[in-house]
Amino acid sequence: MERLHIANLPTPIQKLDRLSEELGVNIYLKRDDFTGTEVSGNKVRKLEFSVADALQQGCDTIITAGGIQSNHCRATAAVAAMLGLGCDLVIRGEIPNHFEGNLFLDQALGARVHLLAPDESREEKMDEIVENLKAQGHKPYVIPVGASNAVGSLGYASAIEEITRQENNLGLHFDSVVIAVGSGGTYAGLWYANQKQGAKRKIYGFAVDHNTEVFVETITNIMKEMYLNDGLEVPEEYHDILINDQYIGSGYAKSRAEELAFIMKIAREHGFLLDPVYTGKGFYGMVSEIQKGTFKNAKNILFIHTGGLQGWTQEQRENALKTL
Ligand SMILES: Cc1ncc(COP(=O)(O)O)c(C=O)c1O
Repeated sequence: MERLHIANLPTPIQKLDRLSEELGVNIYLKRDDFTGTEVSGNKVRKLEFSVADALQQGCDTIITAGGIQSNHCRATAAVAAMLGLGCDLVIRGEIPNHFEGNLFLDQALGARVHLLAPDESREEKMDEIVENLKAQGHKPYVIPVGASNAVGSLGYASAIEEITRQENNLGLHFDSVVIAVGSGGTYAGLWYANQKQGAKRKIYGFAVDHNTEVFVETITNIMKEMYLNDGLEVPEEYHDILINDQYIGSGYAKSRAEELAFIMKIAREHGFLLDPVYTGKGFYGMVSEIQKGTFKNAKNILFIHTGGLQGWTQEQRENALKTL
């Protein structure tokens, strides 16, 4: 499969010495928030494959969708602008403030933003945009929410190869890889490549919206398509898809004071910032589970910081500072 080279790769891996000492297990942070600035985070790894596919098919406009503070939409807008492609974003969310976070960046980067009314269907809106573009002589390419399909997920299959090279350089093995899960593609890519390598790493996902059952099904479906695309036999059973749905809290993109207080504590004590929607909940879940003994057999845990810092809203920032 063709790919573009847009992301700053490989992203560094840093050991969190003091947190490791505190928790009694080695914790490493893979800085996928360093993949870029406008394209920052996990989405650009996926877009390297999705947008390459669009270009290969001769498409000139990218259409995708997400929530009001979607990092995926913002990264797509940036890649489209970089390559001179059109970009239409179908965005759903409550009380949009056009002047902050990713919604500001979407517009700054030249994407056409289509805000959905609460009762409007995302699929119908995307179909309508596709038809309008075709009528104008354009060739649109639709990327699903989060680029979480078999093409986009290749970005994280290749991240496993990158991690393997880094393990060799560091002279260690990560027995656990941990991420936040929003639409499943990052997890699917990691699990798929890990399995293909026959590696023993366990991949842990902390859900930020749907429950475990929904994610296991979504992730399995993406992986089945990946096996098919690679011309491999599609396994009947998928073991060890480890999705924890106990840290969604008040719901997608909604923050509880305890999560914001945790993010502030990590920032002050360890010098890096998590986002409130994905990595904050994922890292909070991981640390809580380490404290509960879930990772008691682990030696080296790798948390992938998948970015999302552009999505902090003013309300979240205010509430976070109030916890201090
Ligand atoms: C910052 C960040 N982290 C993690 C995720 C989760 O990735 P995925 O949608 O592939 O599950 C997303 C997107 O949903 C994200 O924007």
